[in-house]
Parts: sequence; structure tokens; C-alpha cells
Amino acid sequence: MAIRSDEITSIIRGELKGFEAGADVAGVGTIVEVGDGIAQIYGLSGALASELLEFPNGIMGMAFNLEEETVGALILGGYTSLKEGDQVKTTGRVVEVPVGDALIGRVVNPLGQAIDGKGPIETKKTRPVERIAPGVIVRQPVDTPVQTGIKAIDSMIPIGRGQRELIIGDRQTGKTAIAIDTIINQKGQDLICIYVAIGQKQSTVAQVVAQLEERGAMDHTIVVSAAASDPAPLQFLAPYAGVAMGEEFLDNGRDALCVYDDLSKHAWAYRQVSLLMRRPPGREAYPGDIFYAHSRLLERAARLNKENGGGSLTALPVIETQAGDVSAYIPTNVISITDGQIFLQTDLFNQGQRPAVNAGISVSRVGGNAQIKAMRQVSGRLRLDLAQYRELAAFAQFASDLDKATRDQLTRGEKLTATLRQPQFAPVPVERQVAILWAATNGHLDDVETAKVGDFEAEFMRFIESTNEGLLPAIAKEKSLSDDLVDQLTKAVTDFKEQTGYGRAGAPTKPGSQAKSKGGNAKQPADLGTAEAEASAETDARAAEVKDETEASEAGEA
Ligand SMILES: Nc1ncnc2c1ncn2[C@@H]1O[C@H](COP(=O)(O)OP(=O)(O)OP(=O)(O)O)[C@@H](O)[C@H]1O
Ligand SMILES: [Mg+2]
Repeated sequence: MAIRSDEITSIIRGELKGFEAGADVAGVGTIVEVGDGIAQIYGLSGALASELLEFPNGIMGMAFNLEEETVGALILGGYTSLKEGDQVKTTGRVVEVPVGDALIGRVVNPLGQAIDGKGPIETKKTRPVERIAPGVIVRQPVDTPVQTGIKAIDSMIPIGRGQRELIIGDRQTGKTAIAIDTIINQKGQDLICIYVAIGQKQSTVAQVVAQLEERGAMDHTIVVSAAASDPAPLQFLAPYAGVAMGEEFLDNGRDALCVYDDLSKHAWAYRQVSLLMRRPPGREAYPGDIFYAHSRLLERAARLNKENGGGSLTALPVIETQAGDVSAYIPTNVISITDGQIFLQTDLFNQGQRPAVNAGISVSRVGGNAQIKAMRQVSGRLRLDLAQYRELAAFAQFASDLDKATRDQLTRGEKLTATLRQPQFAPVPVERQVAILWAATNGHLDDVETAKVGDFEAEFMRFIESTNEGLLPAIAKEKSLSDDLVDQLTKAVTDFKEQTGYGRAGAPTKPGSQAKSKGGNAKQPADLGTAEAEASAETDARAAEVKDETEASEAGEA
């Protein structure tokens, strides 16, 4: 068979035409030292800060320290299979995570990989985990509330969409409970929640996911988990991954909420990797830029203005304190970065005052603007009464005879405190909060036994719903307490007390009974104005006499 040379040359020509010498540029380096979740790599001169690096066996890493000869990298995953001499490649991408609706309802690790056994995440979109926070020009003040469904918070420490509110307290004071209740209360509220668990036990995270699932809250929630057993680099990355997922909603004009539970453990993880990288330790051995690490995370919470889509990203960081010490390094840092804090106290928690919110030192610096007017109408009085109560209660525990005004104030404070108690997983809609707080701040609970306040609330709500079913929806719709609504509420509470006998049948039997019956006589919203206080000061001497008698008779009874 003859060989046709022109045929061969045309084939070769064709092949040459299609040949492209596309050089694939990738920096390649060699591991010179590896261990404890970090690696020193020689020869990656072109690496970017926070660039994703590719180790053998599909393990990823992140460029952390860029030095003249070497690059210090965080290994994001199991590092035990890596050894000195292994090759490392740059990828040209900074660390990013998958984002979008496909993540909702899923549990993922800080790299966005599913860890809930429900298959891979179906999304093509990714976002870098680090981004510069939105600037001043594109923001606007908060004006829409995040209803937590917790009476003590929605009334006194309201949170607005786009706000950063710190939840701070010792171990086991109900910090996570507040965050979880808030997430549960967002059902049907158009707020996507992202719960970032950092350094917690796997079992605790599993429990939280189960609770969310049970209450149908996973339908609007993403859980990002870097457990205590995960390497420190992953724990460090977790909140940034969570906020990147939230930013996807923010930039699309939607509302999102990020819970970072908790940033104390995040700080530990960051301290660990920084010390391993031989960055100089500062106060409490934390690296010098720990403040920057937290501020650039929390600054990414924002409320964008209309021109920029009007989306919002709310941040609820959690900090654990040691023995209530809010002046330690990390707590003060995060307090100064956030727009307020919810302070939870161990002794309140142990006394049964749950949620254990200390109303005195908890604040919300911007959320009041977002509160509905009806709530503002009742909460101003609430704050004042509680503040007076706390002050008086501290003195009164030593005093034997008190004037009527003081006793009334103490009673009021006691009832208000009881009204603010709330079990876990029982968020209260805002109109119900308004109704019960209105009743409490206007003295309608003063003659109800403190232990019965919870029952009173439940029965009163049922009563309103059965006798005046338009009332609660009207409060929700009008968002303020008009004179007409106040009249309806007054009628409801009077009828209710008449029919059920609250405040009448439960005739107080313990010491201080006089205070209660007297407070009861004064029926009208007992305004503890100065005039009345003075008047009662005049009758003080007489009151003291009467008191002596009562005490004597009570002693006789006992
Ligand atoms: N309002 C509440 N009513 C009754 N029990 C509550 C309430 N809030 C929290 N608890 C209970 O208190 C315990 C501690 O709550 P939680 O785990 O939320 O605290 P924490 O501060 O997050 O603890 P840790 O420091 O371990 O993270 C839990 O058993 C929880 O069920
Ligand atoms: Mg917790």
C-alpha cells in the first residue's frame, strides 16, 4: 500500500493548527513543616493573602502568613496525612463558600460542605469569606424589628434588622436559648437565619438542629458548624463563612440574621493558630489583631438603603464570660463593637427568673427606632418601674416598716418581673406582649399572686380571644394603642378579673398583705407621682402604727 505523503502532512498541519500551548500557571511549593493544623510552605512566592491552597489528597488550605521565603498556611481539614516534602499549589482564588437558597435547611461545615447526610449542596454560586463591610453611604438606620418573641427583650432591649446585639453571660445562663427562640420566632417573617456553632460539642449542635427541626424552623435556617473536635483553622473560619452566606441575601434585598455561638471560642481558635504561626501574643496572649478580626466580622451586619436593595443582615454574637466579668479583654472588645448587649446573669437564672436578662445593664442602642409604637407606649413605663424596683428592693430587704408608696412600688416591680418570665420555646407574638405588659404596667396585676402571674397571662389571652376576638389583631394591625384600644383592654381586664376572681379570691396571706390590699383599693393605674409619695410620707407615722398592729396580729396567727 502506497503511503500518500500529502495526506500525512495535512493531518499534521491540522493537528498543529489546533494546538495551543496553554500554560497552566500555578505556584507550586513544598511543605517544609507541618503539624497542629498549620503548614510552612517554601516556594509559593506568588500566593495571595487568604488564597485557597491545594494540598495533596484534595485537602485545602488558606494562606495566612506571607513571609519572604515561606508561606504559613492554615490547613482546612485533616492534616495527619500530610508530610514534609509534599507539593502545594496555589489556586488563584481566595477562600470562598457556596451561597444561595440551596443552603437553607442544611447543616454545613465552614467550607460549605454538607455534613447532614442529605447529599451535596446544589449551588454554583460562591462568595469569598472575607469582604469589606458596606460603607456609610449605602446604609440606613434600622427601622424594622427582629421580633424575638421574648417579652423581656422585645419590650426593653429591642433589636432592629441590621443591628448587632451581643448576647453575653456566664456558662449555662440561657444564651443559646435566646438565639434559638429568636430563630424559631422567625417562622413566616421573611428572615433567613444562619446559626454558626463555633467550638461546641457535636452533641450540642445536633440537639439544636433537632430542636429547630422539631419546631419547623429549619425551613428558614442554615446551620454552619465547626465543632470543638474540628481543627482550629476551621473554627476560625466558621463565622466568616456564615456571614458570607448571609451577605448573599443582604445583597439581594432580603433580610438575614446571623448568630455566632460563640465568639469567645472563636477568639481561642484564632489565638491558637496565631501562636502556632508565631505571631506575637498581646493581652491575654491573644494576637494583636483580635479586635480587628471581630470588628471586620460584625461590621458586615448592615441595613442597606433603598437604592442598594434595602436588604439587611442582623448579627447576634454570643460571648461567654467568666464569673460575670464583662471587663475581660474579649467581652469589652465585642461590647464596644456591637450596638448593645443582652446581659444574662447566673443568680437571676438560679432564682428562676428566666430568661435571666439583667434589665439594668442590658441596652439596645438603636433598636428602639424599630419598635412598634404600641410596644414603646408600654415599655417606657416598664423600664422606669423596674429600675425603681431594683433600687428599692436592695434597700427594702433590711427595712422592717415601709411607707405605702414604697410598698406599692415593690409590689409593682415584683409583678412586672414575674410577667417577664417566659419558658423556652414559647415565643409570644408582639400584640400579646403589648396586651399583657399593658395590664402589668397599669397595675392590673398588682393584686394577683406572684406565683399566679403566668397563669393569669395565659387565661387572660384566652379570655380576650373568646370575648373580643378583634382586639389582638387590631393591636397588631394598628401597631399603636389608641384610646379606643385602651378602653377595650381596660374592659377586658376588668371583666376577666371579675369573672375569674383573680386578685379577689387569691386573698394574700403572707406578710405584706396590707400593701397588696391597699394597692388593690387604689384601683386606678397607681401613678406613683411625687404628690402621692409626699402625702403618704405625711401619714407615715400613722401607717407605722397600723403596721405594728398588723405585725402583732400576724405573729399571733403564725
Ligand atoms: N427561659 C428558659 N426557661 C427555662 N429553662 C431555660 C430557659 N432558657 C434556658 N433554659 C435552660 O437552661 C439551660 C442552659 O441554657 P443554654 O444552653 O441556652 O445556656 P448557654 O448559656 O448557651 O450555655 P453554654 O454556656 O453551655 O453554651 C438549658 O438546659 C436550657 O434548657
Ligand atoms: Mg450555649
